[in-house]
Amino acid sequence: ANKLGSKKERTLALIKPDSVTRIGDVLETIYGSNLIVTKAKMVKLTWSQAADFYVEHQSKPSFNSLVQFLSSGAVVALELMGDEAVSVWRRLLGPTDSALARRDDPQCVRAQYGTDAVKNVGHGSDSYMVAARELEFFFPSTVGHGPPNTAVLTDS
Ligand code: TYD
Ligand code: MG
Repeated sequence: ANKLGSKKERTLALIKPDSVTRIGDVLETIYGSNLIVTKAKMVKLTWSQAADFYVEHQSKPSFNSLVQFLSSGAVVALELMGDEAVSVWRRLLGPTDSALARRDDPQCVRAQYGTDAVKNVGHGSDSYMVAARELEFFFPSTVGHGPPNTAVLTDS
C-alpha cells in the first residue's frame, strides 16, 4: 500500500482473436476506469503457446477448442496497472459466457462485444500470483537479442 492507502496491482488483459478489431472499444472501457495501460503487444500464438498459456484448463473437455480459438488469430496483450487491477479488470470483462453476461451484467465488456462462452472478448488474470506468471508469459523480463520489443510506461 502506498501513502494514500491504495493497493496498486498489475494484471494481464488479453484481447482474444474475436475482438482484436474492436480493441478501441475495449480501450475506451479501460480509459473509463482507474486502470492504465503500461505495456502492450500484438502477437499470434502458436497452438503450443496457447496450450501453455491455458495449461490450467488442460483437463477440461473444452481445452482443444479453447486453444484452437486462442491461436486462430492475433491477440493483444495489455499490462494494466491500478488499484485492485486484477479484480477491477475481471469485473469490467464480466461473466465468462457472453450470453449470460448480456442477461446479468449488460454494461460489461463481454455483454457488449462478446458472442458466447468461447468468443468472449478477453481474458483477465485470476489473482495477483497468476497475473505475475501471465505477464511474464507475454512480457518476459529476460532480455533477448535485438531491439527491445516492449515499450514500458513508468508507474508514476
Ligand atoms: P475460465 O477461466 O473458467 O473463464 P474466464 O475466462 O472468465 O476466467 O475459462 C477460461 C476460458 O475457457 C473462457 O474464457 C472461455 C473458455 N470456456 C469454454 O470454452 N467453455 C466453457 O464452458 C467455459 C466455462 C470456458
Ligand atoms: Mg480464467
